[in-house]
Amino acid sequence: MIAVREALSIGRKQLTKKGVNNSLFETKLLIKNILKISDEDLISTSEVFLSESQFETFQSFLERRKKSEPIAYILNKREFWKDSFYVNNSTLIPRPDSEIIIETVLNLIPNKDKKLKFADLGTGSGCLIISLLKEYKYSEGVGIDNSKEAIKVAEKNKNILSNNERLSFKLADFSTFKTTEFDVIVCNPPYVNKNDINNMQKN
Ligand SMILES: C[S@@+](CC[C@H](N)C(=O)[O-])C[C@H]1O[C@@H](n2cnc3c(N)ncnc32)[C@H](O)[C@@H]1O
Repeated sequence: MIAVREALSIGRKQLTKKGVNNSLFETKLLIKNILKISDEDLISTSEVFLSESQFETFQSFLERRKKSEPIAYILNKREFWKDSFYVNNSTLIPRPDSEIIIETVLNLIPNKDKKLKFADLGTGSGCLIISLLKEYKYSEGVGIDNSKEAIKVAEKNKNILSNNERLSFKLADFSTFKTTEFDVIVCNPPYVNKNDINNMQKN
């Protein structure tokens, strides 16, 4: 058994040593997720203990983070727009700046009651099309990706977040996918040159 405040200190020190900038913030995030508690709870639970198995989980999360694995992959989730999306390393982690795509559609089509057909090319976690169809409640949409594993993640998010009949995901290549029947097409294409991938920070 270990006190939360002690775990916070261990995590912060270990992550700082590995050059993680927001070491305290990230340690808190790990603990909050393990204990399934909020920020407020964390402040008021400074005398609460992590069980042995919770502390083991915490240590395994720290080890992964120390090897630069993104925290979203460790926790299998990332907030995007109004929801928390399941992610794993088969998909890009939804990025806050991609929310501009949702904002742009909302600005261009302010009437959310319209019945539209959306296509999301390179859907990844499905974050764009799921968020859009939650805004446009009478519309339908298709998300496509050429990665089987990404489609599995998108389906999982559909089941967790919306599970609606208006949305389907398809394994397809966007260079040959017919888009003529759609009213709105969104796409956040791969933007990293394959040759640059090895030079990027893992997170
Ligand atoms: C930058 S990610 C965007 C993921 C998601 N839409 C988002 O905004 O977080 C690009 C996605 O395009 C997919 N992709 C790449 N080439 C593709 C192709 N030719 N056809 C379909 N999907 C493709 C990748 O598998 C990846 O999931």
